[in-house]
Amino acid sequence: MSLKLNTKYLKDFVNEDEIAGIKAQVEAAAQSLHSKNGLGNDFLGWVELPTAYDKEEFARIKAAAERIKANSDILIVIGIGGSYLGARAAIELLKSPLYNNIKKDTPDIYYVGNSINPAYLNEIISLCDGKDFSVNVISKSGTTTEPALAFRIFKKMVEDKYGKEEAKNRIFATTDKARGTLKNLSDAEGYETFVIPDDVGGRFSVLTAVGLLPIAVAGCDIDALMKGAAKAQADFEADFDNNDCYKYAALRNILYRKGKSVEMLVSYDPSFVMMSEWYKQLFGESEGKDNKGIFPSAAVFSTDLHSMGQYIQDGARILFETVVDIKKPKTDLFLEPDAENLDGLNFLTNQNMSVVNRKAFEGTVLAHTEGGVPNIILELDDTTEENVGYMIYFFEKACAISGYVLGVNPFNQPGVESYKSNMFALLGKPGYEGAKAALEAKLG
Ligand code: PA5
Repeated sequence: MSLKLNTKYLKDFVNEDEIAGIKAQVEAAAQSLHSKNGLGNDFLGWVELPTAYDKEEFARIKAAAERIKANSDILIVIGIGGSYLGARAAIELLKSPLYNNIKKDTPDIYYVGNSINPAYLNEIISLCDGKDFSVNVISKSGTTTEPALAFRIFKKMVEDKYGKEEAKNRIFATTDKARGTLKNLSDAEGYETFVIPDDVGGRFSVLTAVGLLPIAVAGCDIDALMKGAAKAQADFEADFDNNDCYKYAALRNILYRKGKSVEMLVSYDPSFVMMSEWYKQLFGESEGKDNKGIFPSAAVFSTDLHSMGQYIQDGARILFETVVDIKKPKTDLFLEPDAENLDGLNFLTNQNMSVVNRKAFEGTVLAHTEGGVPNIILELDDTTEENVGYMIYFFEKACAISGYVLGVNPFNQPGVESYKSNMFALLGKPGYEGAKAALEAKLG
C-alpha cells in the first residue's frame, strides 16, 4: 500500500536549493498542524480521524448500510460540497463511474441537493418510480439551501410511499451531533442520525459518516479504506526528507511562487473524474483566499488531450500538472491482432490495453515537460480501498500543509457566504430584507 512521489520530470523546473529553501517553512507548517496552534486549529479533527474515529458509530454505519442494501433498490444521497463530493468520488473510483449501470447486488445511488436545477431533480424523482428507496441526507450546518430543498421533496416522497413510521427506517441523517435544523428535525421524526464531528470541516469529512455510509452502501470495504488512511496518517508524520506528502506541498508552493498558478490534476482513468472534483474543492476552498492560492483544475487523459492538450502544450505558461499514475487498472483488455489489419492497428496488438495507456502517459509527460509544463507524478499502485484511503489522507494533509506555507487559514471558507446572502436577499428570506432592493436595482 503506498502512494509515491516521483520528481523525475521536475528536474528542469525545481532545483535542490529551492527544496532546501522551503523545507523549514514546511516543517514549521507541520509543527503548527500537529501542535494545533496554527490558523483554523479548531478544525483539525481529521488529522487523527483514521485512528481515533468513533468505533460504535462505525459499526452503526455498517449496520445501516446492510439494511439499506437489503430493503432498497436506490439510495438517494442528499448533500453538497464537502457533504457530497467525497462519497461520490470514492464510490466511482472504487467501483466505477458507471456504478449505477454495472451488474451488482447493491442499490443504485443518485446524488441530489448538489444543485437547484429542477429538471435534474425531476429526472431522479422519476427514476424512483416503482422502486424501493432510502435517503441519506447529509448537512453539517443543517441549513444549506440546496440539500434542505431536496430533502423536503424526498422526505415527502418517502412518507407518501411508506408512511411516517416506515420513513424512520428509510431516512438517515448525517449532521451535527447536537445543533441545527436537520438535527432537530431528525430527532423530532425519529430518524437514525450520524455525526459530522465539530472539528472536521466539510471538505475534510469523507472519512466520517458523511462519506462512509454511502460508500458502504455501494459495497466498498470501509474497514480497508480506514486502514489505508491510518497507514497514511502514520507514514506522513515522518520528517521532511522521508515524507512525500510534505514534499508535494513544498513543490506546489515552489512552483506557485514561480508563476505556476494553476495545478491540473491529471489521471488516465475516467473513474478518477469525481475524485478530481473532490480534490478541486479540497484545495480550492482551502487555499483560494486573501487574493492568493493555486487554482485547482483537472483533466482525464487521453480524453482531454483532445480538448485541453493544445493549451497545455502551447498556451500561457501558468500551469503545472500533478499526474496520479495508477499503476494497475481494475481490469485489463488484451488486444488481439487481426489477420487483415485493414485499420492498420496491428502495431498496438498482442498486448494489454493498459500498455497503450502507459505509452500515452509517457509520451504526454515528455511532450508537456518539453513544452514548459512541470509534471509532479504521484504513483498509486491501484485503486483498492486501502490505497484510496491512503491517497485521500495524503491529499488532505498536503492541502493543510500547503495552505499553511501559503499563509492562509486552510480550514475556513468565508468567500462561500457572498453568493448565499445575495441569493437569500433576492429570494426574500426573512432577515435579508435590507439588501433585496439594492441588489434588484443592480440587476436592473
Ligand atoms: O467544505 C465545506 O465546508 C463546504 O463545502 C460544505 O461541505 C458545504 O457547503 C455543505 O455544507 P453543509 O454540510 O453544512 O450543508
